[in-house]
Amino acid sequence: MSTFRIMILFLFCISLTCLLFYSSAKRNDRPIIGVLAQDLYSPVPNHTAYIAASYVKFLESAGARVVPVMINQTPEEYKTLFNSINGILYPGGSANITSSGYQRAAKILYDLAIEANKRGDYFPVWGTCLGYEQLTVLTSGNNLLSRTNTRDVALPLDFTNEAKHSRMFKGFPAELMEELASEPLTANAHVWSVPVSTHNTNKELKNLYKVLSTNTDGNTEFVSTVEAYDYPIYGTQWHPEKNSFEWTRSYIPHSSSAVKITFYMAEFFVSEARKNFHRFESEEKEREALIYNYSPVHTGPKSAFEQKYFF
Ligand SMILES: *[C@@H]1O[C@H](CO)[C@@H](O)[C@H](O)[C@H]1NC(C)=O
Ligand SMILES: *[C@@H]1O[C@H](CO)[C@@H](O)[C@H](O)[C@H]1NC(C)=O
Repeated sequence: MSTFRIMILFLFCISLTCLLFYSSAKRNDRPIIGVLAQDLYSPVPNHTAYIAASYVKFLESAGARVVPVMINQTPEEYKTLFNSINGILYPGGSANITSSGYQRAAKILYDLAIEANKRGDYFPVWGTCLGYEQLTVLTSGNNLLSRTNTRDVALPLDFTNEAKHSRMFKGFPAELMEELASEPLTANAHVWSVPVSTHNTNKELKNLYKVLSTNTDGNTEFVSTVEAYDYPIYGTQWHPEKNSFEWTRSYIPHSSSAVKITFYMAEFFVSEARKNFHRFESEEKEREALIYNYSPVHTGPKSAFEQKYFF
């Protein structure tokens, strides 16, 4: 081999080593994700808010730790927390999305996330069901929801052409994508939806979000999965966390494929959080914030949730 060729090989190996080192340094394998609490609408003594434990388990199952994000904190407190966590999840439920503790916290954190992402500080946001509906209100400045007959039903996803090459679904096994498209594997528990026609005629929604799937209740075609074009912001009108972790309603699918969907959705979002490098001021502050400081209470079958954390 000529000296030149050896040189080239040598340089190639060096750059490969650098690349490998660089890519592992560019990943945070200890992601911590905030899950937003929401206002209790029927009072529980000494408590004002709750988080359904299934959202916590969902994120933990894919290698994240969870910090509960309390409602009714000051903007400064949210900012400090924002700079300590690697992503935020807005859960489903029934809080008021135009006026509640949940809505106010969601707005502050959404604005911080948009601002951070614009600066190149990659910060993922996920909304499930009510959380997705909340995102549409934050993005458009309006409540654009319509009533649909979609309470307690499992549906297959009607994928759009955009789904296959989306960030969210491109890592899914092909077989699972086929099952998602043909079997009722997504739990729907909502009475409000964003009609596809509304999405397409609202400039803010249409510009921000790529629609990855839709569904219909027989009358109204509604948006069921989105990802933002230019931001790591994601929404599902359905509940990826329920298949593995909620047992109180008989329509929730629990097949092997259904459980894989829970995992792959969690894996995707946690991987997004691994791209963020926010951290707590100290290990002590981190320990104090984690969900491990609280114990879930068994609330099923009276509640739609098997277990809840109360705050
Ligand atoms: C509520 O808090 C008060 C004051 O800390 C305590 O005395 C009371 O036992 C609590 N009630 C319940 C139901 O936990
Ligand atoms: C949410 O709160 C607003 C303002 O208080 C109120 O007008 C609206 O009716 C509430 N929405 C629901 C669904 O309760």
